[in-house]
Amino acid sequence: MFSVEKSCFQTVIRSEICLGVKAGGWDLVMMTCRISAFSKFETVIRSLEVAATKPADTVFSFRAQVLENAAISFLFELGILDGLVSRQGAEVTAAELAAETSSNELLIVRLMRVASALQFCEETSESTYRATHLTPYLTTPGFKGGLRWTETFFPIVSKIPSYLAESDFRLTGGEPTQTAFQFTHGKPAWEVINEPHLRHEFDLWMRERKKHDERSWHKRYPPSAELAKESLKTGEDAVLVVDIGGASGSQLVDFRTQFPGLPGRFVLQDIQPPTMEGVAEGVEVMVYDFFTPQPVRGARFYYFRSVFHNWSDEKCAEILRNVVDAMDPDYSTLLIEDYVLPARETQLRGAVEDILMMVVLNSLERTAKQYEDILHAAGLDIVNIYAVGANEEGIIEARITKGRW
Ligand SMILES: C[S@@+](CC[C@H](N)C(=O)[O-])C[C@H]1O[C@@H](n2cnc3c(N)ncnc32)[C@H](O)[C@@H]1O
Repeated sequence: MFSVEKSCFQTVIRSEICLGVKAGGWDLVMMTCRISAFSKFETVIRSLEVAATKPADTVFSFRAQVLENAAISFLFELGILDGLVSRQGAEVTAAELAAETSSNELLIVRLMRVASALQFCEETSESTYRATHLTPYLTTPGFKGGLRWTETFFPIVSKIPSYLAESDFRLTGGEPTQTAFQFTHGKPAWEVINEPHLRHEFDLWMRERKKHDERSWHKRYPPSAELAKESLKTGEDAVLVVDIGGASGSQLVDFRTQFPGLPGRFVLQDIQPPTMEGVAEGVEVMVYDFFTPQPVRGARFYYFRSVFHNWSDEKCAEILRNVVDAMDPDYSTLLIEDYVLPARETQLRGAVEDILMMVVLNSLERTAKQYEDILHAAGLDIVNIYAVGANEEGIIEARITKGRW
């Protein structure tokens, strides 16, 4: 990529020098060169950033940018980005897109400027476009669902000053109703998420956002490969894994597909029943509120993904009490998959996700120390933390503290 960019850069400089000399001397030449060089650098830096980032992460971070999100939402509504993907790399002009969508050419050009700058499409020549490697990610139902859901955050931002002025907001205190979200929307986030049309979008998004992560928990967590050798409990009552707050159960389904021969039941629990097809045969769905006693006792794994970050320490203590009471100290393991923020130099994605949790749910992303504190208070010890990249959720493995019983 560097050599392509370098030759483009040299061509730009040469042509700008010719233009500048014709138009009005060396000052103009130097100024034109500088502007052109900076603009070219910006493009190169953006290209490098996109090349160095997983497509799912690039799309993830764009969705919170208000005006970029507005432009892409227009393009979705017009069906333009889906149209680019279905062309499989073939080029299309703004005039053709305008005719196809009964829209106007200027509108397409304006919207596609944003999409091109974000590298969600490539402008191959003036007003002519084709898909990039990011376009198919962006147009999956899951990412579209993620965008719909993100729209509920935008009004909150404009309300923050009046929220702070009018509420007795505290940085601590765990009620999920004392939020900027509730101040803005007049009801708690879970009530809005669970409205049927949004809940479906939310479930699609939950399923999609980690689909492209080649290192899902059961591949990362070392004992999963060793489980076949373990003396796992068998029989009708034996439970291998309970996915608590598991939404549509995408992780459970992947796990079961990967290890079809393992004994024991696979139980998916959530306060809401799944809104979509895709809960595989052999997975038991159980409507369950994790603030009540856990009915499934002595499972090998109790697994929570993206659940603890939704709740304050006080609420997590209640959830943990219910799960610890059901665990077999000699057999059960608790697995939590969530961001584990470093003590310093947190990457932007994790830092921003933490603010999202604060304004929406009065909750937080935690460091390893913060997890250690809440788990220890519940009678659990961290055995290990399996982290990967800076922008990845880690997996915390915990067992009941020896001598607790
Ligand atoms: C952020 S989502 C994570 C879903 C899933 N674990 C995943 O990673 O795709 C949190 C889940 O917790 C569920 N939840 C919220 N309150 C709950 C409760 N009191 N009992 C059980 N599940 C609950 C929600 O319905 C939602 O599916």
